[in-house]
Amino acid sequence: MTPTPHGFDGRTYIVTGGGSGIGRAIALALGAAGAQVVVAGRSADTLDETVGLLAERGAEGLAVPTDVRSPEAVDLLVERAVEYFGTLDGLVNNAAGNFVAPGIELSPNGWRAVVDIVLNGSFFCTRAVARRLREQGTPGAILSVIATYAWHGHPGTVHSAAAKAGVLAMTRTLAVELAPLGIRLNCIAPGPTDTQGAGAALWATDQARASVLSTVPAGRFATPEEIADASLFLLGDRASYLTGDCLTIDGGQWLGKQVYGRDVAPDA
Ligand code: HXC
Repeated sequence: MTPTPHGFDGRTYIVTGGGSGIGRAIALALGAAGAQVVVAGRSADTLDETVGLLAERGAEGLAVPTDVRSPEAVDLLVERAVEYFGTLDGLVNNAAGNFVAPGIELSPNGWRAVVDIVLNGSFFCTRAVARRLREQGTPGAILSVIATYAWHGHPGTVHSAAAKAGVLAMTRTLAVELAPLGIRLNCIAPGPTDTQGAGAALWATDQARASVLSTVPAGRFATPEEIADASLFLLGDRASYLTGDCLTIDGGQWLGKQVYGRDVAPDA
């Protein structure tokens, strides 16, 4: 493959939750840009599908079924990736669990399930990949997928909002700790993105979908490919001096919150 401005040729990335939605889109975009991609997640079938789609694009992938809640499983994932591709250059913390529930009704187990996947899982993966990069003595990039409610909050998302706020804090903290090793850490905060998983968890009915859409000034959902494109920018060499930050890609959704209920949109 010809070199790209992003500098992904011959590099290897782990994408958690790479069997569906945004994770799959990022994996395919990395593959199309010349990278080798290790997809990790709980369902072997969907991971295999992603590897098949990578192969169709002439890219090499490896499926490693992994529950990111287990630090031992995460260490094995990194070992397996290095064993297979010989090197590691970065990570996308995309695996997430989510459902909408009022905090006062949320069971301790429901809280734990989401915090374990999103916050603990992202830390275990980041730690394992950073250790490997230190051992290799090579630079790398780590990207975590969060949500804008990490800072503005949103009813029904206390478990996810708290976990994703934790991932943002982790990113900013480790960006400073790991900068001397040449490891950059950033986040993206996608707005509503048209994927099956988010749709089923967050806008399962036509009414819920219309209600979500009405909050997006751009008037539409993001495509997974739009999120992947921004992700590649943050992972790649064009962002070589960019660390500890979060790029919001939400069609203006959170800035457009209509606190006073005023509609000042121009006529279409
Ligand atoms: C209340 C619920 C619930 C619900 C699960 N629980 N779903 N409580 N309302 N809808 C509770 C269960 O009752 C149980 O508590 C606890 O959560 C754990 O549930 P399990 O099913 O046993 O756990 P597990 O199999 O580990 O599943 C984890 C999960 C699940 C998070 C609950 O939804 C999951 O794995 N989802 C992965 C895919 C996903 O959610 N993708 C959407 C990401 S979209 P008890 O007390 O009964 O034992 C996204 C976008 C956000 O994040 C940004 C948008 C702008």
